[in-house]
Formats: sequence, structure tokens, C-alpha cells
Amino acid sequence: MDIPLYFYLAFKDLDRLAPGSDASTLKVLDLLNVDANSNLNILEVACGPGADTLVLADYFKSSEIEAIDLFPHYLNLLNEKIKENDLESRVFTYEMDMNDLDFANEEMDLIFSHAGVEIMGFKKSLNRWKRILKPEGFLIVSDLTWIKKPEKESIDFWKNNYAEIDTIQNKITQLEKLGFEYVNHFILDKNEFNDYYSRLDDNLTQLKSDKSANDFIKQLKREIKISKNEDYSYVYYIMRKSSHQ
Ligand SMILES: C[S@@+](CC[C@H](N)C(=O)[O-])C[C@H]1O[C@@H](n2cnc3c(N)ncnc32)[C@H](O)[C@@H]1O
Repeated sequence: MDIPLYFYLAFKDLDRLAPGSDASTLKVLDLLNVDANSNLNILEVACGPGADTLVLADYFKSSEIEAIDLFPHYLNLLNEKIKENDLESRVFTYEMDMNDLDFANEEMDLIFSHAGVEIMGFKKSLNRWKRILKPEGFLIVSDLTWIKKPEKESIDFWKNNYAEIDTIQNKITQLEKLGFEYVNHFILDKNEFNDYYSRLDDNLTQLKSDKSANDFIKQLKREIKISKNEDYSYVYYIMRKSSHQ
């Protein structure tokens, strides 16, 4: 797939490709209530440049982590970090499509994906990825979620950009219908949106002279404006594959 240069330039030097932080990911991992010394098989889907891959590797020091993404550009950035942190013996990257994960049935103890399920949709992602999880294995995904009664402006934007945005309660009902037990959830603080989108905005300012990028920039600018609304956030859903499947 050919990705235009302006796409990479828009996200240049961002250590994350979505709002979030190491501190928030650590809080989510604490909510799992799994012994950090366990020897787990962990899969991270849509790892991007790998900020959370490093958090996972540091938290679960005795575990092996497979990180996949569709774009080699991001995997290369992560590979450099793996080397710098001497993690080559237990953190591995693969260029792979999340639609068609090339792992064995029931191989993983934990699948983690931040800002990844919007690509296929929450329900389809859960349905597809469940196969790879061991019985009672854990899945953590963050998804765009209404955390307050949404404003019309937010509804109008997201219905065209991510129609599966929904309330926490509806997401929990959906995951239970798909064969998971709900464990917990964590709402990302909206301050983390400000940090991320202001860095993205700075990058877009430098891209302005490139005409071919106009529509792309306009769309991201709309997202930056909407990101200030307090009615939605990323919510991390922690769930467990039901044992009776
Ligand atoms: C919003 S970014 C989140 C990245 C990372 N989790 C983070 O928080 O920085 C989504 C990621 O999904 C990757 N991606 C897009 N389509 C994909 C696909 N079909 N399969 C796997 N990864 C994909 C992109 O390359 C990008 O790294």
C-alpha cells in the first residue's frame, strides 16, 4: 500500500499515534490484576511506533511480546527502540494485517490494542481476535466512547468517522454478547487529548504549503477541534474470554 509522504509528516516525531501515555497504560495494566512476574504470551495489535509495547515489556518482564502493525515505517521505529532497550530476546515485531492475524488458536494469554479497534470496528475486532486467546485469556482494547451525553457537533462528526462510538454500558453489553466477561474499564483523561492533538497541530502547521495534503489536513483539523469536546474519550475495556466456548 502506498502511503503519501504527508501522512508520515503529519505524525512525525510523535511517540504515540493516539492520545495516551505510559502512566495511563500502567494504570490499565494494574486493573488486570495479573502477577507482573507471570510468563505470558502477549500480542499487541496495531502497535504503531511502540510506546505501549515498551510499557508492556517493562511491566511483564518475564513475558514474550509479539507486536504487529500494517506499516513497516512504524515497525522500524519500534525495532530501534527494542534494540536500544535490549529487548530483542523477547519482543518481536511483524508486518501483519489485523484482519488476518497469523497466530495459532488459543496462543495468547493477553491481547492489547490501544486505538486499534476503530480500524475494523469494536465488534468485528473482538470476534476475530478471540480465536487467538487462550480460554480465560485477557483482551484489553481502547475504543472511542461517549462518556457524557454527546453534543450534536460530536455526534455529527463521529457518525461519519466512527459510527461504532457508543456508551460504556452498550460496549460492555456488546463484549458480553461476543463471549467475553467484563473485568473493568478505564477512561482516558481528556488532558491527554490536549497533549497529543497540540503536537499533531504543530506538525500540520508545517505541512500547510503542500497542496496535495489539503483534504487530509482539513479532516485532521476537524478532529482536533472535536477533540476538545468533553463528551467522549478513549475507554480501555478489560475483558476475559469466557471459559465455556
Ligand atoms: C491510531 S494508531 C495507534 C497506534 C498505537 N497503538 C499507539 O497508540 O500509538 C493505529 C495503528 O494501526 C495501524 N494499522 C492501520 N491499519 C492496520 C491494519 N489493517 N492492520 C494492522 N495495523 C493497522 C497503523 O499503522 C497505526 O500504527
